[in-house]
Amino acid sequence: IVGFDGYGTLFDITGEDWAPPEVVASMRAKQLQYSWLVSLMGDYKPFRDLTRAAVESALQLHGARADVDRVMEGMLHIKPYPETVAALDRLAQNSRLAVLSNGDPPSLQALLENTGVRDRFQWVISAEEARVFKPSPAVYQLLLDRTGAERDRVLFVSSNAFDVAGAAHFGLRVAWVNRRQASLEGVGGRPEITVGDLAELADRVA
Ligand code: 2OP
Repeated sequence: IVGFDGYGTLFDITGEDWAPPEVVASMRAKQLQYSWLVSLMGDYKPFRDLTRAAVESALQLHGARADVDRVMEGMLHIKPYPETVAALDRLAQNSRLAVLSNGDPPSLQALLENTGVRDRFQWVISAEEARVFKPSPAVYQLLLDRTGAERDRVLFVSSNAFDVAGAAHFGLRVAWVNRRQASLEGVGGRPEITVGDLAELADRVA
């Protein structure tokens, strides 16, 4: 089984153009900060609510303006990376595929359907089922519980260093898709393999 993170791994969140790049970057940072804050507070909210709050915060912080409803609609149409579909098809030849994402179920289903990749996944698993966000072990446990797979028969794939740290710490075998020569976090676990994109992952897994 190959389980995939969503935003940033399958879908290219750097392509967003609803505001200048520094505003979008600060929204993404805020979105993740909020997911960690509500998780530590024990105050679960759907990821789309955190994203909306992060958009509003980033716009205010930078004195920028955007139609927040339109930005949120755009979140349901984020493009897959150019190599995503071909890599999924190659991996599906000898693995069953899953999504494991912070995204709330309606947003995940809409995004996967809007981008035409929904049917490639046997499981679409949202952190909502654990009512806590990554990197909580409870989220990675969902990947084992919902698929019924043995831990060592699962490969978890993410481009987000915090997600790699958490999944590896939990004990999953992890592939890091390091698209932009980032560095790993100084805490948590380490990936088993590092690749530059999903095509290279398909090469390595084959
Ligand atoms: C996820 O899709 C936010 O990338 C993170 O779970």
